[in-house]
Amino acid sequence: MSKKDAAARIAALTKELNEHNYKYYVLAQPSISDFDFDSRLAELASLEQQYPELLDPDSPTQKVGGDITKQFITVRHKWPMLSLSNTYSEQELKDFDTRVRKVLGDDFQYVCELKFDGLSMSLTYENGLLTRGVTRGDGTQGDDVTANIKTIKNIPSKLRSTGYPDIFEIRGEVFMHRAAFERLNKERVENDEIPYANPRNFAAGTIKLQNSSEVAKRPLDCFLYFLYADNRDKLFKTQWESMQALKQWGFHVCEHTKLCNNIHEALAFISYWEQGRHDLSYDIDGIVLKVNSYAQQDELGFTAKSPRWAISYKYKAEEVETILKSISYQVGRTGAVTPVANLEPVQLSGTTVKRATLHNANEIARLNLHELDTVLVEKGGEIIPKITSINTAKRVPDAVKIAYPEKCPVCGTILVRKEGEAVHYCPNEIGCHPQIVGRIQHFASRKAMDIEGLGNETIEVLYKKGLIKQIGDLYNLHRHQSILEQIERFGSKSISNMLNGIEKSKEKPFEKVLFGLGIRYVGETIARKLVLNFKNIDALATASSTEIAEVDEIGKRIAESVSDYFSSALHQQQLVELKMQGLQFSIVEQEIQLKSYKLLEKTFIISGVFEYHSREELTNLILANGGKIMTSISTKLNYLVAGDKMGPSKLAKAQKLNIPMITEDELIKMIK
Ligand code: IVH
Repeated sequence: MSKKDAAARIAALTKELNEHNYKYYVLAQPSISDFDFDSRLAELASLEQQYPELLDPDSPTQKVGGDITKQFITVRHKWPMLSLSNTYSEQELKDFDTRVRKVLGDDFQYVCELKFDGLSMSLTYENGLLTRGVTRGDGTQGDDVTANIKTIKNIPSKLRSTGYPDIFEIRGEVFMHRAAFERLNKERVENDEIPYANPRNFAAGTIKLQNSSEVAKRPLDCFLYFLYADNRDKLFKTQWESMQALKQWGFHVCEHTKLCNNIHEALAFISYWEQGRHDLSYDIDGIVLKVNSYAQQDELGFTAKSPRWAISYKYKAEEVETILKSISYQVGRTGAVTPVANLEPVQLSGTTVKRATLHNANEIARLNLHELDTVLVEKGGEIIPKITSINTAKRVPDAVKIAYPEKCPVCGTILVRKEGEAVHYCPNEIGCHPQIVGRIQHFASRKAMDIEGLGNETIEVLYKKGLIKQIGDLYNLHRHQSILEQIERFGSKSISNMLNGIEKSKEKPFEKVLFGLGIRYVGETIARKLVLNFKNIDALATASSTEIAEVDEIGKRIAESVSDYFSSALHQQQLVELKMQGLQFSIVEQEIQLKSYKLLEKTFIISGVFEYHSREELTNLILANGGKIMTSISTKLNYLVAGDKMGPSKLAKAQKLNIPMITEDELIKMIK
């Protein structure tokens, strides 16, 4: 390749890899496989080696990887969090072993460990107490996520036994078991939230949440695999010994670690787990080999990015070829259309694969799918298999390129796609069968109104009989007793059970009603937040999207969706009907006994995390002393009670409007 071509290729690879790094580390939503990423990185490294003058110090090959998010406090690692050099080839493992033996001779052992597919974490313990949990970040500094780490049950906050150093750091991998991932992801789909692609992304997304109580609801686990302490080498001579001690101190150390006497034993371990990994309850993406003795690790030392005494062997995601039979387009309750590939059934990682996700139109275009294409299907960390590429050599002559449908496959309405969004929607909210039925099913579901006696199938039947077309119709069903009695296998007991259930749902709290309405992107948590902030539907319905976005953790996309929902005349009319039926559209405020008038006429907003009081306690204190809580920052606001980790937009707005900011101590002093 000429130098000019190499320069162009280097620039293209650099741009692409930087983008993937951002998606992986910051968004926790990678869009290519590790293998593809690593291959591109290797291509870039080799070009840079060929033309060292073209090497940019900012090249992705020069970085440990990662980026730091803004909302957490940044902490410098005492011992940098290096990455491991990795390989997909047995030959390269043997080359690694040769390099090690050149320095150490033959007298050494490898500790072979599973390579857990989660996110690495550094934990600090002082006098037996967990004092800090920091993400890897860029390897030099990471995010302080201690509050979130403390919610993980397998990470001890206090050590049980003795014998540990006064101060030490341990490294490990935070991850989510597959079963928990599947359960929680299913809930996300039901709540119309974007599902995570795999357990690792779910774990990463969870650790980056600002709200620790939300983190506590998502079961995470953590395997520890490396110890650092100033006096470590006096206490232990090997990685193996230190891991045994970690177990004694109460840490979760994986039981599948093995001490190997040479590279052949290590290779046997690797080949055993190639299959064995499918039976684990969590994902691993390879095996890590570490030279066992600390003294020998020191002898080998480090390169700029990784230790010379360790390497990781990564398993390639399993792939098989099969034929694309057709594509189905499923319409969800919000009208979102999801393409699904129907495949010639094929065995992959121990299961029969018949379908694969295609995500959206962009994915179909990226793959350049044609009818009856021979496709490569991969089952990596993802639960649902995906099509990674097409074997174009096997393309049927004159095959027709797949065109994304312009019309809804169910009702024939022209599909719409909002600017900047990847998903197509069917806008026929009132006439498209799966949307209508799905919406009512969602409303009646356990997590929303939990209506007894009204299951999904009953809803489908009631719709087909023309009895229900929208949520409000449920509350008129009691007027159609005689039609209900004519429905097959719907006895009088089932009918009265259902009608009672519907009547009782009128008592369900506002947050359940709001969630039940099925507003796009409004899951359970968001519904609760909106309810707590706006208190009643009128306040919420008249708020602008900017005001809605002021609520903690509610972004622009959600805010716009909420404000769009309420601006529709159809929705307004439906809400009037539901109100008339007597559903709950406001929160019942707790009676607060006035203790003083010290804060009378004063308005407050509480934002951030506080050291001594919860936000709820501070709210109650303000109300009990005559003050008022506001929902958004405006010139009418007297004080912003500011804690840690306040949202940057709120901070900026308060500063712009010159709103006095006070601490929790200052608030307490005002009412003393
Ligand atoms: S040892 C200096 N052991 O793989 C030693 N890492 O590519 C550094 N990982 O950042 C790490 N399982 O997130 C080690 N048993 C294991 C591991 C492991 C997973 C991850 C870790 C690290 C990355 C390195």
